Amino acid sequence: MTSTAAVLHDVVADIAAQMKARPDRGEVATYIPELARVDPAGFGICVVGADGAVASAGDSDAPFSIQSVSKVFTLTLALGMAGDRLWRRVGREPSGSPFNSVVQLEYERGVPRNPFINAGAIAVTDVILSGHQPKEALGEILRFIRFISDDDGITIDKAVAASEQRTGFRNVALANYMKSFGVLENPVDYTLGVYFHHCAIAMSCRQLAMAGRFLAHGGRNPSTGLSVVSQERARRINALMLTCGHYDGSGEFAYRVGLPGKSGVGGGILAIVPGVASIAVWSPGLDASGNSHLGRIALEQLSKRMGWSIF
Ligand code: DON
Repeated sequence: MTSTAAVLHDVVADIAAQMKARPDRGEVATYIPELARVDPAGFGICVVGADGAVASAGDSDAPFSIQSVSKVFTLTLALGMAGDRLWRRVGREPSGSPFNSVVQLEYERGVPRNPFINAGAIAVTDVILSGHQPKEALGEILRFIRFISDDDGITIDKAVAASEQRTGFRNVALANYMKSFGVLENPVDYTLGVYFHHCAIAMSCRQLAMAGRFLAHGGRNPSTGLSVVSQERARRINALMLTCGHYDGSGEFAYRVGLPGKSGVGGGILAIVPGVASIAVWSPGLDASGNSHLGRIALEQLSKRMGWSIF
């Protein structure tokens, strides 16, 4: 009889081979100049199971810019610091708008719809900063990501951070607008500095899948058994990933993949199979909503072939 692990290895290898060969690769993000230089030929995938078994293929050890995937980790940290008080500054509803949209902020008095759109993530970063120096807040974020990944080698790509800092006019506008409503408490340039730098953290699929383990296993790191967050909090973060993790493409992602997931414009997606596995995929070409084109297709295939949809 073939074991599930063997089946998973074959499925992952087959998906990576197919994705590597596809001509339709989407478009790499160009609004952050440093990301425009990334080769669209890359594709990586890594699945980490409850027993720590890893199935990976393609460029699964190649570091890429995690961008908005970092928002899952900053949300987790901010909830740890502020608890439910966080929800005074950010909502929990899907926006149905692009990730960098400004349109709802005026109607909703500067309170962003959810923690994953840019405005929401900037508000979350402001909560983490809460009066500290930007360097300390950034150190806290990096330490947390290294801790949940069991990997001290994770770093920030300074060139990507500088590139976005030079060109992030839309984020500057969002932050100033929120500040005018009193939603941000720290100096805008402090909050944005931390935000740009946590978006510029570089990780491989393997590191990212390791980082997602606590969300797949009721808030615990399955290799140590230690709790990172409560089971209830892990469940709620997964719910937000499902409903808001792909911006105006969240419905389509839930429909096709059926898993909580969070994308980034670097082409990474972290997806969670509750109770079963943490998955990271990377392919830098994006679709019209700014989500990885082949990353989503790969996850759709993986979820279908392994029977992993939560529905
Ligand atoms: O703020 C930005 O625009 C980027 N640092 C992150 C955006 C992002 O990853 C959206 N995701 N698909």
